[in-house]
Amino acid sequence: MRVAMIGTGYVGLVSGACFADFGHVVTCIDKDASKISALNDGQIPIYEPGLQQLVAKNVAEERLYFSTEAAEAVRSADAVFIAVGTPARRGDGHADLSYVFQAAEEIAGLLDGFTVVVTKSTVPVGTGDEVEAIIARTNPHAEFEVVSNPEFLREGAAINDFKRPDRVVVGTDDERAAKVMRELYRPLYLNETPILVTQRRTSELIKYAANAFLAVKITFINEIADLCEKVGANVQEVSRGIGLDNRIGSKFLHAGPGYGGSCFPKDTLALSKIGADADTELKIVNSVIEVNARRKRRMADKVIAFLGGDVAGLTIALLGLSFKPNTDDMREAPSIDIVSRLQEAGARIRAFDPVSMDEAGHMMRDVLFCDGPYHAIENADAVVIVTEWDQFRALDLERVKTSLKAPNVIDLRNIYDPSDMKARGFSYASIGRAY
Ligand code: UGA
Repeated sequence: MRVAMIGTGYVGLVSGACFADFGHVVTCIDKDASKISALNDGQIPIYEPGLQQLVAKNVAEERLYFSTEAAEAVRSADAVFIAVGTPARRGDGHADLSYVFQAAEEIAGLLDGFTVVVTKSTVPVGTGDEVEAIIARTNPHAEFEVVSNPEFLREGAAINDFKRPDRVVVGTDDERAAKVMRELYRPLYLNETPILVTQRRTSELIKYAANAFLAVKITFINEIADLCEKVGANVQEVSRGIGLDNRIGSKFLHAGPGYGGSCFPKDTLALSKIGADADTELKIVNSVIEVNARRKRRMADKVIAFLGGDVAGLTIALLGLSFKPNTDDMREAPSIDIVSRLQEAGARIRAFDPVSMDEAGHMMRDVLFCDGPYHAIENADAVVIVTEWDQFRALDLERVKTSLKAPNVIDLRNIYDPSDMKARGFSYASIGRAY
């Protein structure tokens, strides 16, 4: 099959490379000429484990191309994917669809023969109808079907998520379009991935409902963690105790500093707006948005309280800045709130992150970015573990203790054991573990 992928952001690039690896011929298209020329030189604009190699392999095997020109690829495509950004619109939480609509208009005139136009971008319910109307209006002779095919990729694990998904969701009423989509995902039949073909609006809603539900799960366990601290319980054991119930499931029950990233914050907000626009108040989603935003701010207060209520003049080291490990993505990362609040309280910040310090440099001021974890903690009054990168899980704790000015460790990801840390002479705090 021939695929044109409009948009070489995170989703477009990963999906394009993976479809090529399935054996399809894929052209990834982007207006940003410098991005395309970098990609043609083998440079990947994002950090995603395995992506560089996957792109290189499929480029070498002549199944993956990058171009600023949509015409040729769209004309010959069986499926054109729209994978452009849908950022939150400034001022309200609605998803900004201008890039999606622009892409629809642009491809409309180029379609040649029956083509499936797939929205991969996360779009509000009903967007497929609008994309269809735009294409039909721009090119009344076009023969096409608009299909919704949401992505469920996690940053840092995106290639595996694409190639071994729990399910593929395809939103269309049209059998011909469904057949093209089944053919595109055919390699997944081997591992019996369920392909759910449903109506387009239902598919669009599945994406938001999935992300919102995961955000609910995280926020729920974060609140239970707060309660654990107050009543003398252990949140990790609570998670295990409830997660073993198959109806609940053990995933996404790690308490932490609050969810971040480019998806959950944006998508929960957008779903809330979709609800409001449809006169259906989504109280749970609204609470989750509020509780999570407050939690990120309160993490700095937790650090300050642990250090005796006053951090003015103290040096605090942060380990990890990205919103989660294995990505350089800093969007909505809890570290942003933590740094700014600690600085407001008069603390000096040193920090180390394996890959996100460049990104972080655009978002934080007056932070001393360090060469490694031990450099960051040197002479600091406390270290705060913000992101659970593997390399922070097995630090040389003796070296940590001697490097710090005072042996204060605040572990916001629960990667160390409280009794072990106490036995080693640390003053240690974590999330939801009173013992
Ligand atoms: C999320 C979803 O997991 C993907 O399925 C979805 O495709 C993607 O959004 C999207 O809409 O594009 P992602 O944002 O990459 O993926 O990251 P997650 O691994 O889901 O983590 C999100 C946040 O939740 C992180 O800040 C993470 O630290 C936090 N989290 C996650 C917890 O605090 N506890 C957990 O148990 C799990």
